[in-house]
Amino acid sequence: MTRLSSVRLASSLFAGAFSSRPAAIASAPGRVNLIGEHMDYNGGPVLPVALERRTAVAAALEDGWFLVSGLDGVVRGVDMDAPPRQDWTVYLVGVVRELRRVGAAPPGARVAVETTIPIGAGLSSSAALTVAAAKALSLVAGRRLTPAQLVEVAFRAEHDQVGVACGRMDQTVAAHAERGTALLFETATGAIQRVPFPGRFWVVETGVSHRLTGGDLNLRRRECEEALELCRQWRRGLVHLADLPGADRPKAERLLPAPLSRRVRHVVTEAARTRAAADALARGDLAEVGRLLVAGHESLRDDYESTVPEVDLIVASAIANGAYGARLTGAGWGGAVVVLAPAERAARVMAEVAREFRERFGRAPLVWSSRAGSGVRRETVPA
Ligand code: GLA
Repeated sequence: MTRLSSVRLASSLFAGAFSSRPAAIASAPGRVNLIGEHMDYNGGPVLPVALERRTAVAAALEDGWFLVSGLDGVVRGVDMDAPPRQDWTVYLVGVVRELRRVGAAPPGARVAVETTIPIGAGLSSSAALTVAAAKALSLVAGRRLTPAQLVEVAFRAEHDQVGVACGRMDQTVAAHAERGTALLFETATGAIQRVPFPGRFWVVETGVSHRLTGGDLNLRRRECEEALELCRQWRRGLVHLADLPGADRPKAERLLPAPLSRRVRHVVTEAARTRAAADALARGDLAEVGRLLVAGHESLRDDYESTVPEVDLIVASAIANGAYGARLTGAGWGGAVVVLAPAERAARVMAEVAREFRERFGRAPLVWSSRAGSGVRRETVPA
């Protein structure tokens, strides 16, 4: 699907629901993370890529708040000061509350949301929604926020208001991505470097949906905090777990109880793999990037324990059929796999993956491809 589709969809949803035209539309992309998983709350590097699939938010000033999504087409009046409903509108409530804190919220608005990003598939539909909403609503309020400000509003909305223990990776790529590039984001310093990524990548959705609010991600984050505390007892001044020098890893593994020892091993080795993958990508060495992706996947499977049998099968099958590499992408416990494969072989690899998946699980996975897309932007309101 193209960007036009989510923008057009949001614009016509708005027109149908509110019998008027939106004053502003903004859109933001979903993402795959090539590598650097569970790094952003441990101070390590991440290497995400924006999808061509996007979420569009259309908005106009109004007395009070009226929200509609293409998911069900039902217009909901929302009280921004009441406890939020536990559905997609909680993200909008979070964004509005955070925009108010920086003086960039309109007093009220009509809002229509459409997306071409699969929801709950580990492809960051929530950050696409919060970043696009922050942009559209601040425009309606007559404010122009910088990409960095949009990241902060969107991150606070999801982290503080919705209560997901996420880091800033998803919001950062949704706001800063540039077409044809991956984003090497050093989460400890905030440094961003764009790495050329002209090719195509493949996404295989497992159809196993993950629930992040209050779930496994929050538990892993607590485990990492505990591991950091324990490491500080002998590594004074350690700020982030991902800063633990590789040479200290054997000691950490010896001193820490399981499963914390395994979590540390993932964090330390993943930081090194991510920087190596960014270098390899910059050289155009996709075979090496693929090898690092597979090592990263094994680390998620064995040490971080965030994979499920569906993703393990997809990765194994992709490699066996000639992909450069493949890896669970995003938080995990379901979600999607990103696959890098030689262009001339990709169709055959993906057909085999789908066949083996169907044989084992009795249903077909969704398989599609994308190139590296661009970050948040204001869209022209269609005539
Ligand atoms: C989710 C979070 C991100 C990141 C990943 C794991 O997508 O929203 O901030 O922590 O999990 O890498």
